[in-house]
Amino acid sequence: MLTQTINEEKLLAEFEAKINAEIKIEPKDWMPDEYRKHLIRQMSQHAHSEVIGMQPEGNWITRAPSLRSKKILLAKIQDEGGHGLYLYSAAETLGVSRDQFIQWLHEGKAKYSSVFNYPTLNWADIGAIGWLVDGAAITNQVSLQRTSYGPYSRAMVRICKEESFHQRQGYEIMWRMMEGTVDQQKMAQDAIDRWWWPALMMFGPHDTDSPRTSLAMKWRIKRESNDQLREKFINKTISQAEIIGLKVPDPNLIRNEDGTFKHGDINWDEFWQVVGGNGPCNQQRLEHHFNVHKEGAWVRESAIAYNIKHTNNQ
Ligand code: 3HC
Repeated sequence: MLTQTINEEKLLAEFEAKINAEIKIEPKDWMPDEYRKHLIRQMSQHAHSEVIGMQPEGNWITRAPSLRSKKILLAKIQDEGGHGLYLYSAAETLGVSRDQFIQWLHEGKAKYSSVFNYPTLNWADIGAIGWLVDGAAITNQVSLQRTSYGPYSRAMVRICKEESFHQRQGYEIMWRMMEGTVDQQKMAQDAIDRWWWPALMMFGPHDTDSPRTSLAMKWRIKRESNDQLREKFINKTISQAEIIGLKVPDPNLIRNEDGTFKHGDINWDEFWQVVGGNGPCNQQRLEHHFNVHKEGAWVRESAIAYNIKHTNNQ
């Protein structure tokens, strides 16, 4: 028993030396159980978010106002599906199967980003999602490019290249609406009113209320804390809103002398209600995912059968 403890301590010291030397941890490397568990949770939830996030936008493909906007939205949604696949593949390197991730999602044991549990009421919402939700996601994902786990870091590098297009196409929708009729301007302002706070909640609870942040920072899974990333997003986005004439719905927003901002209180009761499954669309999102996953079983089985047949014939 004593030998095992000494050996584990040696392995942990070597692991932490690699982390501190900015050497990526790879799937076959020794890692503490807590490191593996944190990544399995975070990476699978990240993947679920990418896939579930396709639903609110998918509702507007057939109602896009022009062929150009329909093509852009289709490209974006297709990207999100691909991001989910990269992330499931990266998460599987930790020793958990994709089927197991999907099962945990359907059983309510795994989460996805709370922001996707709000309804998309009109086309301005599609602009707000691209600009604010993907803008928040980019802020987090650019930081995660430097995460200590190799497969996650490499997936982030690939995903971030596509996310910047997502944010810009959303901002363009909002910009065009603010150059449009008074009714279109009102729609755009109503959309930021409804999506601003759920976008801030994407970064998670305050650092003081985030049970995982300290270990995640120590082992460089996270390179910046929830609050640091939230502030980075706010400071970048408010000037973008002001340029096109939109007002951020925060009556208690403070503009600091250095040009940064201090946001008003976030409604954490709402956050935990939505995270806990009681948001406006939680049930609809999960039911849709469950039904489509069941209906798509034949596609997965056919692909597996095809691969087995062609692998055996080689
Ligand atoms: N939605 C749902 N659950 C959330 C949440 C949110 N916005 N923020 C926090 N939580 C959950 C956490 O999962 C954790 O619950 P758990 O222990 O049951 O998993 C609990 O609240 C406490 O939060 P912590 O801050 O302690 O948890 P984390 O350290 O995991 O930090 C996080 C939360 C910042 C979201 C982190 O998990 C993270 O960086 N994840 C990767 C990025 C990600 O998932 N982004 C989601 C959006 S992806 C996207 O938007 C796609 C884009 O293309 C549109």
